[in-house]
Amino acid sequence: MDSKQLSEFLASRHTTRDFLPKPVPESIIDEIINDGLTSPSWSNTRPIMVAVATGAVRDRMSAEFMARWEIVAPIRSSKWGQFKLLFTRRGLPTSNPLVAKPYVPALLPRAQRVGAALFAHLGIDRKDRVARDTAWARNYEFFGAPVELFILTHTSLGKFSANDAGMFVMNLMLGAHARGLGTCAQGAISIYDDIVRAEFDVPEGYELLYGVALGYPSNDKANSFAAPRFKSDEIIVPLKP
Ligand SMILES: Cc1cc2nc3c(=O)[nH]c(=O)nc-3n(C[C@H](O)[C@H](O)[C@H](O)COP(=O)(O)O)c2cc1C
Repeated sequence: MDSKQLSEFLASRHTTRDFLPKPVPESIIDEIINDGLTSPSWSNTRPIMVAVATGAVRDRMSAEFMARWEIVAPIRSSKWGQFKLLFTRRGLPTSNPLVAKPYVPALLPRAQRVGAALFAHLGIDRKDRVARDTAWARNYEFFGAPVELFILTHTSLGKFSANDAGMFVMNLMLGAHARGLGTCAQGAISIYDDIVRAEFDVPEGYELLYGVALGYPSNDKANSFAAPRFKSDEIIVPLKP
C-alpha cells in the first residue's frame, strides 16, 4: 500500500450507526483486538482492558442501558426532574458524568455543527425533541451491533491511559474497517460503569472509558453520513505575533 492508498483508506472510514444482526466470528474479534495492540503505549504499560459483550450478555446490557435512559430522558431537562433523579438516584451516572455536561463555548459550535449535519441527513427536525431522543437512544441498542466492546483504562496514569486507549481503539477500528466491519465509539455508554461491572470481572484500578459498537454495517441512511472533516490549519497552533 502506498501513501496515497493509505490516506484514501483512512479517509474512507466513517462511523457506523446501524448494524446488521449478522454475528462477528470470535476469531475476527480476536484479530482486530490484536490489530489494536499494535498501537504505541506509555512505556509499553498498555494500561487498558477491553470487555467483549456478545449474545445474551450484550442483550442484557443493552436492556439495562435502555432502562436507565428511559428513566432519564423524559425528566432530565426540568429542575423537578433533576431533583427527582438526585433524590432517587435512579438513572444517575455511576461514572463519567462529564458526558452530561454542556460543551464549553470554544467547542460547542463544532459539536452543534456535526449534530445539525447528522440530523439533517437523517431527516430529523432539530426542534423535534422526541425524534432527537429516539436517535440518541439508538446508542443504548448499540445501534443493533452484535458486539459491544467496553474500553477500560487504568486510573493511575490518568489521561495517558486514555490516550493509549484512543490509539488502541483507532488501530482496532482500522483493522475492523479493513475487514468490512463498522465501528462506533460511544461516549454515551461511559456514564454507567456499574452495568459493565455487573457482568465482567473488572480488575481493581480499571474504569470504563467508553464503548465501541462493532459489526457489519447495514445499508441504512445513517451509514452514508460523512461528518465534516477538519483541515490542518484549523488545529495548528499559530506562533505568537
Ligand atoms: C471518544 C468518542 C466518543 C464518541 N461517542 C459517540 C456516541 O456516543 N454516539 C455517537 O453516535 N457517536 C459517537 N462518536 C462518534 C463521533 O461523533 C464521530 O467520530 C465524529 O462525528 C466524526 O465522524 P467519523 O467518525 O465518521 O469520522 C464518538 C467518537 C469518539 C472518538
